[in-house]
Amino acid sequence: MEPEQSGVTVRVVPDAAAMSRTTAEIVVETVRRLPEAVIAFPTGSTPLGLFADLIARVEAGTLDLSRIRVFCLDDYLGVGPDDPNSLTRWLRDAFLEPARLDLSRVQMMPAASPDPVAAAANYETALADVGGLDLAILGLGPNGHIAYNEPGATADSRTRVVDLTPSSTEQASAYWHDTLPISSRAMTIGVATLLAARRIVLMVGGEAKSEVLRRALQKPMTADLPASWLQSAGDRLEVIADQAAASKLDEPTSGPRAIDEGRAGRQRQSPPSV
Ligand code: PGA
Repeated sequence: MEPEQSGVTVRVVPDAAAMSRTTAEIVVETVRRLPEAVIAFPTGSTPLGLFADLIARVEAGTLDLSRIRVFCLDDYLGVGPDDPNSLTRWLRDAFLEPARLDLSRVQMMPAASPDPVAAAANYETALADVGGLDLAILGLGPNGHIAYNEPGATADSRTRVVDLTPSSTEQASAYWHDTLPISSRAMTIGVATLLAARRIVLMVGGEAKSEVLRRALQKPMTADLPASWLQSAGDRLEVIADQAAASKLDEPTSGPRAIDEGRAGRQRQSPPSV
């Protein structure tokens, strides 16, 4: 098999605005092809520009997201979608409502369920019932988490309750300016659940993520760095990184590091042999 065939695509774009626009174009293309696409969107600071881009297209009448299905990636245990410290509420306020999505087509993470184990299994069933994710858009945690698959998460993990590392609870607390309590446990979609998506986009911006991105893509896969499991998605994974985030990646090809929305060439890298 041609090693390139299973290679991850890394698109290095000049800055955060280009990262947002490039990812928005992937969403637009997906929804044009599949108006009822099943999509997972991340929370955090990374996707804010993506959301602004998509909302602007909806307001301009050039994009209709009203028929897509959304599966939320994670939320804090015991926190309901109307609680102020809920990631679901955050996503609803920042994106789902302004982008005029149909909230009845949004599968929330049932983190406040009295029976989290059964609820997590039901979330998996609901996803399977709609045929799985057409597109999973992810951010990269400073500790290498994807959704709330924290260090230690195995490649076969499914939707479940997890313990958060102190660094992740601190990161989360900062989203609300340290004004709200953050649970040290969460419910998250699993690594295996994400890896089954037909297309995965990992958005990474900023110099602070450059080392964790290098380890995620260019070191052997390990549970110590859950994002590294994404390598196994091969050509279903596209990394959209700004120049600063990509600054520590080994150059797989010669040529300019910043490529113009992929037109000047896509940098591909083969996964390490396992
Ligand atoms: P950030 O978080 O976008 O706020 O950097 C990403 C993540 O932790 O997944």
